Amino acid sequence: MKFIATLMAAASIASLADAHGYFVSPKARGPGPVFQKACGMQAFYQMSGDINGNIQGLQQTTKGQSDYNAAACNLWKCKGMKYDDNTANVQKYTPGQSIPMYFDIRAPHDGIANVTVIDLSTPHGKVLASLKTWDAYALTSTSIPDSEEHFSVKMPTTLGGKCAKKGACAIQMHWDARSIDQTYQSCIDFTMAAPGKRDHVRDFSKREVEE
Ligand SMILES: *[C@@H]1O[C@H](CO)[C@@H](O)[C@H](O)[C@H]1NC(C)=O
Repeated sequence: MKFIATLMAAASIASLADAHGYFVSPKARGPGPVFQKACGMQAFYQMSGDINGNIQGLQQTTKGQSDYNAAACNLWKCKGMKYDDNTANVQKYTPGQSIPMYFDIRAPHDGIANVTVIDLSTPHGKVLASLKTWDAYALTSTSIPDSEEHFSVKMPTTLGGKCAKKGACAIQMHWDARSIDQTYQSCIDFTMAAPGKRDHVRDFSKREVEE
């Protein structure tokens, strides 16, 4: 009994200190040599040991490290994780496709969250489309609803060819637990060709012009 109580106390302390989570499926970006070069060895060790950690924790870790390059590391886009380390995990989607996702909440803490498509060519990942938002996410006052970990997003049909090339766009989970000043991001790389319908319309009008 006492042992269990101690375990539970330890677990609740751990969850207070370290709320966190990450996309399990589809597979999200992880750390690699490019991340290590930009963010430093300590950050690389930390993320290799536990990918779930928060951005503010990484800011602490990297502070004053001689091998930390703030601009290249860019912690507020995909938590600093790099496309070049994750080229083996680029998903291929079609406009309107429904994508089932599993985001693992390893330890909850009250926050807000959203899933967006971001433009990777911009320094802070400009939002191109909003896929899902929660005004209240991972509340500690209730057990975690399954819908916060298992959900689907519908790929937008409004992006034209913006996400056609590898490394142009990512799906980003952004979970912000203000009460404890911890923010979590998790990115999934994907490509998505322009909607076929558009091509059809274009072909058709071209033919009309020619005739
Ligand atoms: C996602 O949440 C962050 C706050 O944590 C907010 O700045 C951003 O505008 C939100 N994006 C969308 C598309 O809801």
